[in-house]
Amino acid sequence: MTPLRLGVLVSGQGTNLQALLDAIDRGEVCATVALVASNNPAAPALERAARHGVPCFVAARADLPDRAARHAAIAAALQQARVELVVLAGFNEVLVPAFVRAFAGRIINTHPSLLPAFGGGMHAVRDALAYGVKVSGCTIHFVTEEVDRGPIILQRCVEVRDDDTVESLHARIQAEEHRLLPHAVALIAAGRLRIEGRRVRIVNSFDTTLA
Ligand code: GAR
Repeated sequence: MTPLRLGVLVSGQGTNLQALLDAIDRGEVCATVALVASNNPAAPALERAARHGVPCFVAARADLPDRAARHAAIAAALQQARVELVVLAGFNEVLVPAFVRAFAGRIINTHPSLLPAFGGGMHAVRDALAYGVKVSGCTIHFVTEEVDRGPIILQRCVEVRDDDTVESLHARIQAEEHRLLPHAVALIAAGRLRIEGRRVRIVNSFDTTLA
């Protein structure tokens, strides 16, 4: 099988990018990270990519303040790198519609809540904790023009403890994300997802060891 060419969009630490790179190295995901793109030149994620020998593209907010122009530059870099699947891994901007259309059905996102609860921003963990939910979790979903509303691929829940802080809850959620995101990419690379309306079915699902 030819490895699926990934473009990973990052703005921050890049622990999900790292999890993906590690899973690919272990042979669990038939994919290759062709490009890492960021809107933040100081993102530690870029150092992770560089350490792995992955090419990086930066469209900094300071250099390209217009969001549409910034996203067009990123889209062009992804196309140049012949990216087949775009993975949002802590990318802190809502993609402009032209970007979503350019990669229609070929963009996924990891979000640190059980969507459709607490979508629409980078504050999902804080919002879930403040709301007082007893379980939260993470969601891997396809990206559509409606923010955090695309068809859900995989979800995992984690308990919320009485003494949780935003940091402790986020750490527990991220431990799940780090397994779930590579698993979702592996399913896509293996052609095992069928989208029926809002529902995503996993076909030939005999091996659940990665879940
Ligand atoms: C992740 O927990 C991801 O779910 C979240 O940002 C974090 C990035 O961490 N994304 C969102 O909140 C998107 N709305 P990382 O840079 O260490 O992978």
